[in-house]
Amino acid sequence: MSTQAPAPAASRIDEQDIRLLPKAEVHVHLEGTFALADILRLAKENGATLPGPAVTLFDVSTHDEFVMPEVTTGGTGQGVGVAGLSGFLRFLDWQCGLVRTAEQAARVAYAFAARQSASGIRYSDVIVNPTHWNAWRGRELDLMDALAAGLDEAEQDGLCSANIAYSLLRTQTATEADDIVADLAARRPRRVLALSVDGDEKASGRTGEKFRSAFRAAEAAGLRRTVHAGESSGPEGVWDAIEHLHAERIDHGVRAVEDDALMRRLIDDDIPLDLCPRSNITLGLYPDWASYPLARLLDAGVRVTLNTDDPAPLASTLDQDWAVAAAAFGLDRADLEHLAAESIRASFADDDLKRDLLDELAALTAPREVA
Ligand code: ADE
Ligand code: ZN
Repeated sequence: MSTQAPAPAASRIDEQDIRLLPKAEVHVHLEGTFALADILRLAKENGATLPGPAVTLFDVSTHDEFVMPEVTTGGTGQGVGVAGLSGFLRFLDWQCGLVRTAEQAARVAYAFAARQSASGIRYSDVIVNPTHWNAWRGRELDLMDALAAGLDEAEQDGLCSANIAYSLLRTQTATEADDIVADLAARRPRRVLALSVDGDEKASGRTGEKFRSAFRAAEAAGLRRTVHAGESSGPEGVWDAIEHLHAERIDHGVRAVEDDALMRRLIDDDIPLDLCPRSNITLGLYPDWASYPLARLLDAGVRVTLNTDDPAPLASTLDQDWAVAAAAFGLDRADLEHLAAESIRASFADDDLKRDLLDELAALTAPREVA
């Protein structure tokens, strides 16, 4: 992969060509994929009042309910004018609170798979954090079953296949986390194959030790592990995710670039970073694409995947983000093929599906790119 500092690509890579590349997405929140029309339908079905005009519903910075005290460090003119991560997370609470029945949950899961397929995504590890879905408090595994039903139907219809990473909210207690994992281990909900942590790292400080026993239990129960870190925390959050939680992937992790020893550790342990440049830019972590340190991570030899995080409210899709990344970072077609292969390899898809997708990709590309 070319890793020189941002340079214009020789020729623009069309989104259509990107769509045709078989690929996986490994860092996408179901909560961040509701289309505007689907939110309006849910609100109507529940007789719920919108927090503002429908036409600016994703412009959460205009809603008092969601505005947060901290101010973004730089606007990009793209996506929504979200005031920052914690205001954004409150918006997700409101939106997911509209999903109240099993049919509605299955519908949003099905719509997710359709949305992924439209970007040529063939497999997704989708993050679900039940704390956003307040109608399901105390019935979190019923929510998982309802979502699995929607994902089953989508797969039967030939859409993107997906498994769920059940996410703890960073502010939950150690006991809550232990109980959740005990339930997951006992009931083994279909399609839930990983444990995750998300939420605002700034809101809760270092959480590695707090969730250590839950993650150890998850590991013992055969659940995979992916952890948000190095977004609103610095490199220390990534260290905690590796040392305490035995993370197999880091969601974001971009601030690992500030610590050479950490990058070495990521390489030695073969831990990929699930990067989401647009999310980090829109939510104010970096002022623009030019300052996003992809090239430095790649130059150091760190494995990365490129993801959307919360594509609907961030007004994007994976194919659009890859096209923008190609232009911003000077990536060519071979680089994108390599990213597609890395996305499949880094995913928690089963080995047969990985092999099929890699074979399909290899048939489209020069063999050296995906060997
Ligand atoms: N939940 C949804 N999007 C998130 C993000 N970018 N960081 C942490 N938690 C999230
Ligand atoms: Zn995320």
